[in-house]
Amino acid sequence: MDTGSAQDPLLSEQRAYYSALAPDYPDHLLGLPGGTELTEALDAFRPAGSILELACGPGTWTPRLLRHADHVTAVDASPEMLALAASRVPDGAPVRFVEADLFAWEPDRRYDVVFMGCWLSHVPAGRFRSFWSLVAAALAPRGRVFFVDDRHRNPEELVEGPASSTIQRRTPDGTAYRIVKIPYEPAELERRLRELGWDITVTPTAGPLFWGAGTRAGECR
Ligand SMILES: C[S@@+](CC[C@H](N)C(=O)[O-])C[C@H]1O[C@@H](n2cnc3c(N)ncnc32)[C@H](O)[C@@H]1O
Repeated sequence: MDTGSAQDPLLSEQRAYYSALAPDYPDHLLGLPGGTELTEALDAFRPAGSILELACGPGTWTPRLLRHADHVTAVDASPEMLALAASRVPDGAPVRFVEADLFAWEPDRRYDVVFMGCWLSHVPAGRFRSFWSLVAAALAPRGRVFFVDDRHRNPEELVEGPASSTIQRRTPDGTAYRIVKIPYEPAELERRLRELGWDITVTPTAGPLFWGAGTRAGECR
């Protein structure tokens, strides 16, 4: 059985890192090579209907989802991040913000689309399967998935060596935190998802970014 991140020191530290980083969260991802490809791919995917946004952070993607969606439920563990996300959407926008640990949270309804921005690479390998069970539990029949992510890790972050998925990042005041960052190769990620029963195409961009779109295997897109 999966336990929440409160019992896992590394995942608690990862949560603390993002809460501390929230005021300085870098919003440059979409400016990286390949950033425009991600936004174009998401718009082409058209995340319509009811959307579940996992690990919404400061609302990097929430306003863009709202261009297509009837309603967004945006979940994140950090109250600081959620406050920023709320400030980025217009008053009265059809968004429900939920503060929750995604390793303990269970969806209270099903959604047409599950969206994740730069989250999958922070899910420990040992929780990959159970995390995708959560995604499956959150999806309506023929529901769709879209994610964007990156595989960038600076050499100085690799304090446990390049083979480890645990890296070290610092907030601007110099405080060090350990977090999970898995540098997925798109083809390998696509294969692993296929093994779990997903039909998700993972597309690399010109830079370190990639995006994935699909459904459970056997369901029409
Ligand atoms: C890399 S940021 C991604 C934010 C945003 N989706 C984006 O694309 O910019 C990761 C987010 O995961 C959140 N997070 C970390 N651990 C979490 C957990 N156990 N449950 C829910 N959210 C978590 C952090 O608060 C942070 O907002």
